[in-house]
Amino acid sequence: MPIIAPSMLSADFLKLGEEIEMINNSEADWFHLDVMDGIFVPNISYGMPIIKQMKRLAKKTFDVHLMVEEPQRYLEDFRDAGADYLTVHYETGYHLHRTLTTIKALGMKAGLAINPHTPVEMVKDIIHEIDLLLVMSINPGFGGQKFLPLTFDKIRQAKELILGKGASTLIEIDGGVTLNNAADIIAAGADVLVAGNTVFSATDPQDTIKKLKQTGK
Ligand code: DX5
Ligand code: ZN
Repeated sequence: MPIIAPSMLSADFLKLGEEIEMINNSEADWFHLDVMDGIFVPNISYGMPIIKQMKRLAKKTFDVHLMVEEPQRYLEDFRDAGADYLTVHYETGYHLHRTLTTIKALGMKAGLAINPHTPVEMVKDIIHEIDLLLVMSINPGFGGQKFLPLTFDKIRQAKELILGKGASTLIEIDGGVTLNNAADIIAAGADVLVAGNTVFSATDPQDTIKKLKQTGK
């Protein structure tokens, strides 16, 4: 069964406590938390103070997705805010090996995200340092976008790379995941599904999470 990580970007922030409890009481596995700086992506979301508050109520793994320039400035801050997985973007780093090993030395799992234009090939030499490979299935910045079909090949390539190198990296897919495409995404080799709009715009979010969880069973 896939790991399901609802993206809180699509939650109703006027009732954030209720949204967190809804996830706590659902079959979701992780909270996916999108941090945007308005430079790496054309949008600004929330940062450490909000994540720290959410951690007080949330009972599941915090999967923090940093869409910020020079993420190495903030690794310790996000650890202190409660990140369990901390993911930085390939496109933001000159020294990713150092960043990934620092994340792990700080006691977190290390994630690396690749944008749609970045070939899977680029991560092959550091795959053993990556606990979570986040393959973006949209151009990051906003929830509610349409899944890019080019992602399917990338998932297959990532799976082949991970198996070929004997790594234990999880493959996470983020952007445009729906009840219609989830089974194909899992069949291609994904381990973790992020879902924002699909969960939070549903009339029954917990039932939608349950259906995502049962994908490919
Ligand atoms: C976008 C974020 C995603 C976003 C996904 O840059 O990384 O996590 O919230 O939202 P949906 O599932 O609505 O495409
Ligand atoms: Zn994300």
